[in-house]
Amino acid sequence: MSMAEKARVAVLISGRGSNMAALIYAARATDCPYKIVLVSGDKPDAPGLALAESEGVRVVRFPSPTVATKTQFFNDLNRVLREASAEYVVLAGFMRIVPDAFVAAWHGRMLNIHPSLLPNYRGLHTHSAALDAGDAHAGCTVHLVTAELDGGPILAQTKVAILPGDTVASLEERVRIAEHQLLPRALAAYVSRERDPE
Ligand code: GAR
Repeated sequence: MSMAEKARVAVLISGRGSNMAALIYAARATDCPYKIVLVSGDKPDAPGLALAESEGVRVVRFPSPTVATKTQFFNDLNRVLREASAEYVVLAGFMRIVPDAFVAAWHGRMLNIHPSLLPNYRGLHTHSAALDAGDAHAGCTVHLVTAELDGGPILAQTKVAILPGDTVASLEERVRIAEHQLLPRALAAYVSRERDPE
C-alpha cells in the first residue's frame, strides 16, 4: 500500500489519551494502513490533546458541551471531521454518549475501545464489576459504534487475567497495556478489510 492510500482516521478523546498515543505511534510505521489526521474531543484541557499537538498531530478544541449545546457540539464536530476528510473515527476514551444522528453519519466507520470483555459490563466501572463478580478474566474490546451503548458488532478482544490481590487500579493498568496493543491492530485490520475489494 502506498502512502497516498492510507486511511484517514480522526481520534476523539476526553482525557489522558494513552490509546490515542498508541494509535499515533503505530501510525508511524511505514506499513501502517492508516494515518491520524485529527484529534479532538469534548474537554479542551484534556492532557491527550496537548500530547497530540506535541507529536505534530492536528488538534481541534471545542468548549465542553452542556445539555444546551450538545447538539451544536456534535454538529460542529462532524463538520470538522468532514473538513479534515476523515474516513474513520475512533473513540479512544471519549466519555460521552454519542447522539443517534452522529452515529448514523459514521455508520460502519466509527470504532470504540471499551475496557471489558463485551457483552459483559457495558458502561462505566467495568473493572470493579469484573472484580466484584469474581471473574477469572477482564479484558478489552474494540467494536463498531451503533445506537446501542457499547452494543455494536465486536471487531476484536483481548483477555487479561485477574490476579489475586488485584485492585481496580492494578487491573485497569494491565488492561490498558492490552488496549494499547489491541486498538492499533484492530483499526489496521478494519481499514484494510474495508479497502480490500474482496
Ligand atoms: C480506556 O481504558 C478506554 O477503554 C476507556 O477509557 C480509557 C481511556 O484511557 N473507555 C471507556 O470507558 C469508554 N466507555 P486513555 O485516555 O488513556 O486512552
